[in-house]
Amino acid sequence: MSEPLVLGIETSCDETGVALVRGRELLTDVTASSMDEHARYGGIVPEVASRAHLEAFLPTLDTALERADVDLAEVDAVAVTAGPGLVGSLTVGVAAAKALALSTGKPLYGINHVVGHAAVDELVHGPFPERFVSLVVSGGHTSLLLVDDIATGVRELGQTLDDAAGEAFDKVGRLLGLPYPGGPHVDRLAQQGEKDAIRFPRGLTGGKYAKDAAKYAYDFSFSGLKTAVARYLEGYEDRGEEVPAADVAAGFSESVADVLVTKSLDACARNDCDTLVVGGGFSANSRLRELAAERAAERGITVRIPPIRYCTDNGAMIAALGSAVVRSGAAPSSFDIPTDSAMP
Ligand code: KG4
Ligand code: ZN
Repeated sequence: MSEPLVLGIETSCDETGVALVRGRELLTDVTASSMDEHARYGGIVPEVASRAHLEAFLPTLDTALERADVDLAEVDAVAVTAGPGLVGSLTVGVAAAKALALSTGKPLYGINHVVGHAAVDELVHGPFPERFVSLVVSGGHTSLLLVDDIATGVRELGQTLDDAAGEAFDKVGRLLGLPYPGGPHVDRLAQQGEKDAIRFPRGLTGGKYAKDAAKYAYDFSFSGLKTAVARYLEGYEDRGEEVPAADVAAGFSESVADVLVTKSLDACARNDCDTLVVGGGFSANSRLRELAAERAAERGITVRIPPIRYCTDNGAMIAALGSAVVRSGAAPSSFDIPTDSAMP
């Protein structure tokens, strides 16, 4: 089978995504989000998300099939996010995928969501080089991957030991009194500030970590940074002075972008890669984009970032990786796939 038609299903968090991919060609990608329902709680409520998936799944599937003018019977394989994610949300997608695979007699593939964030770039920018590094950053994950084959050879070099980058932005957004999710608001505010006015700590770099530099080379930590911002703001409150919010946002953004870009480009250099693929909803961050472009150009490294609609959670990323796995000839998953798929 050279150009398999793969149905991709994503329900790991608050987005219900269904997409169809033939080979490396995206036929359609439909997403329903329950973010509006969570915003008033100031964070994702797992039970609200699971129920929203249940309600949105069939209409989203119907829309995808209709837009691509595809009959379910034509699909060659069903790919579904098996993890990581919210267990209740994952379960809805996995149960739906099993039902579809059983009723059509087509194979089922459990897909790793984090690797999917990298895989989707192939639909946009074409085949991957032989080896590359991928930085996956969102509200839920911050991981550095070394990829020799997106379907069969992905190794996690490191990940966050506490908060994800987007999560840290959301928390700092709350400290600054901005609406949830705070990430985009902090980003906009940062653009009005002076990035070097306040220097916040760079997590897991230098200082006491210098002696463990190799151990933590590709890991991240943002909770100490968030605490440093909180302490800084408390100082102003105690003195009854007005907070320099734009400078705080800019200094904080600089710290996060600096650490993400430095570690990603070091990973490229040490693993002989000239391509960095960035994915996940945090790829929208303007300082990350600027700094990655600037420093990668100095080192002759190409940065690939898909358009933002393919960086946030979607079905296309799961269909893209599903398609790569099917093309690799790997065996399908069994019907008792656990909801915590390992790296391929
Ligand atoms: O991938 P995504 O849509 O959902 C998750 O899987 O988490 O990522 C959303 C996260 C949120 O934490 C959001 O605040 C953050 O990414 N984010 C941003 C920006 N746009 C989205 N953070 C900083 N700057 C942005 N421009
Ligand atoms: Zn994600």
